Amino acid sequence: MSNQRILELPTDEKILRAKSQDVVCFDQKTQKIISDLFDTLKSSERPGVGLAAPQIGHNLKIVVIESAGYEREDGELTDVLPRTVLINPKIVKYSSEKVEMDEGCLSVPDVMGPVSRPKKIKVEAQDENGKKICINTGGFFARVIQHEVDHLDGILFIDLAQKDKLHRIHKREANED
Ligand code: NI
Repeated sequence: MSNQRILELPTDEKILRAKSQDVVCFDQKTQKIISDLFDTLKSSERPGVGLAAPQIGHNLKIVVIESAGYEREDGELTDVLPRTVLINPKIVKYSSEKVEMDEGCLSVPDVMGPVSRPKKIKVEAQDENGKKICINTGGFFARVIQHEVDHLDGILFIDLAQKDKLHRIHKREANED
């Protein structure tokens, strides 16, 4: 178990904004980053559904996604997302149809805003063993993949969100009962 600090704006702008490098070795170092990403995601105080390597300080093309589903600010329940590792991911197809939905990011504390993204995508990547994988998906999973892959290019959701609709979210008070 190795829980890492999640880098945040504005302090960690430099790493969060850098372009990540391809992973060439699927060695122990890479496996350690993958397990650190899952550990950090799971122990985050705020609900997160995915994490990219730059968010824990590595400018490498590694993304992890996993979620048991949670209740959003608006009361909607999010989809359950399977445990997914994407190394060197490349989105090779986007649907022309787009969908708008509120997004947040563990690296951009307490801000949410609507982002319009293609509804369906096709992503090619490698898994944690270097094996080629291809995922065709839509809906929430497609959105999360796009958000995480953006991190590898130094792009954050606030760059894509409608600026006048960005809003602060209230920190949840600890339940005193
Ligand atoms: Ni994010």
